[in-house]
Amino acid sequence: MCGSQEAFLKNGVMPQTALITGASAGIGQEFARQLHSNGYNLILVARRHDRLEALCEEFNSQRSQSAEFVVADLSTQDSGNLRDIEKLISHRQIDLLVNNAGFGSFGALSELELVREEQMVLLNCVAPLRLTHAVLPQMRERQSGAIITLSSLGGLQPLPYMSTYSATKAFDLFFSLGLHYELKGEGISVLAVCPGQTETEFGEVARGPGDDLGVEGDQVRPVVHDSLRALEKRKAFVVPGSKARKIYWLLRCLPLHLRSRLLARMMRRSLRT
Ligand SMILES: NC(=O)c1ccc[n+]([C@@H]2O[C@H](COP(=O)([O-])OP(=O)(O)OC[C@H]3O[C@@H](n4cnc5c(N)ncnc54)[C@H](OP(=O)(O)O)[C@@H]3O)[C@@H](O)[C@H]2O)c1
Repeated sequence: MCGSQEAFLKNGVMPQTALITGASAGIGQEFARQLHSNGYNLILVARRHDRLEALCEEFNSQRSQSAEFVVADLSTQDSGNLRDIEKLISHRQIDLLVNNAGFGSFGALSELELVREEQMVLLNCVAPLRLTHAVLPQMRERQSGAIITLSSLGGLQPLPYMSTYSATKAFDLFFSLGLHYELKGEGISVLAVCPGQTETEFGEVARGPGDDLGVEGDQVRPVVHDSLRALEKRKAFVVPGSKARKIYWLLRCLPLHLRSRLLARMMRRSLRT
């Protein structure tokens, strides 16, 4: 860990602190950049020490003591690292929690490694549940705070050949939407973010042509920008990125069973290529 809580913005106002999981790459790293340039102090969480260290150095050179990091694997069966982050949350003021860390896998379930599917459920579902549960008491006490959870367009209907992944993202969506309405009137904003295919390391990690559906993805910058605007407007749900929004509106025109059948055909084709 590096940095401290002592930093003040130039105008003397105590900056807000955001804790971002999965901040070493992709969407999480872009959340870190945009929140930092909006004056937030950051606590960055992921597994890759070198990436987190380099990011914190960059942020701290722009504004001293404005970023720190914790190296943690949030998908272990014994949840040791998760407990460490929960403990950290209980000792610190966290104004914004970004439940972003996540991964997917591509292929027929019977051919995918079960351990990895379980890790996905731990990272994509159990980690957001536990970290949100850990941060809520302090937010409720202050009657302020915000929680962003990354779902996906894939959480809006089944994605055959990414069945576990889309189920975890449906969990994220419903969990976040439920909390949004549960906490209405308590000063806490809860936003579910549902990106479509976005240009990150996600496809590479999913190990397959899972992101090769013949659809060009959105860039991370507008995806995060749209998400932060939706948070400002206290929305419950956002589909960020212009390409994702088009797909969202197209998919909405079809009943669930037709969407699922269409996606199965597309995914099967891309599995063969
Ligand atoms: N890109 C897309 O097309 C897309 C679309 C819809 C939704 N999403 C969602 O957006 C979120 C971010 O994905 P991304 O596209 O930015 O993917 P990414 O580029 O692969 O980044 C994933 C981040 O999660 C971290 N992470 C992975 N496993 C972890 C673990 N066990 N413990 C702690 N951190 C871990 C990674 O850091 P380390 O490897 O250093 O741990 C990395 O920082 C995910 O929840 C994903 O489901 C992505």
